[in-house]
Amino acid sequence: MTIFITVEGIDGAGKSTHLEFIAKTFDAKSMPYIMTREPGGTELGEKIRSILLHDDMTVSTETLLMFSARNEHLQKKILPSINQGVSVICDRFTDASYAYQQGGKGIESNFIEVLEKLVHPELQPDLTFIFDIKPSIARSRISHERDLDKFERSSEEFFKAVRNNYLNRAKNNSRYCVIDSSQTIEKIQKEILVKLEEFI
Ligand code: TMP
Repeated sequence: MTIFITVEGIDGAGKSTHLEFIAKTFDAKSMPYIMTREPGGTELGEKIRSILLHDDMTVSTETLLMFSARNEHLQKKILPSINQGVSVICDRFTDASYAYQQGGKGIESNFIEVLEKLVHPELQPDLTFIFDIKPSIARSRISHERDLDKFERSSEEFFKAVRNNYLNRAKNNSRYCVIDSSQTIEKIQKEILVKLEEFI
């Protein structure tokens, strides 16, 4: 079965470790997949990512750039992959635009809805993991050994708003699987496996 999985959460929620575990589960079942990320995933998308993560801009410009990178990613990588029967595991997708640009930065939801309808009118992820964690814990997990990007430098209040947006979106929608990311790694992996086994 071909499946489109996205992985979300505030910065410092531990996504990378869990993405690796999801990929290992696909490997164990010999299921073909690609692992990719947003913003980014294509040569042009990665260039846009570096602008997005480091340059100051208005929230509407930021949202448009997120969707430019997403459009390229969908056309060049995500859709061709799905069409060839290869599953896609994607580190962030449109839910992140709602969480960060709407929830965190206050752009009206309609701005994102219009872009979503233009860029991927038919496609939604089959499954979205949200790794949920309190911003105060997440902050302590962000590496202090490198320069933080524009988003990582945001305030705790900002991440509270981002987190709330994710949790509200997940309410009453079975596409989302919210996992408490402050639990032990064993518990988290068990929850991931239970959910994945419904699909693969
Ligand atoms: P990452 O650090 O998880 O790779 O994500 C890069 C940053 O981009 C992260 O802080 C969240 C942000 N982001 C948005 O603000 N909107 C989006 O639509 C996406 C995909 C990411």
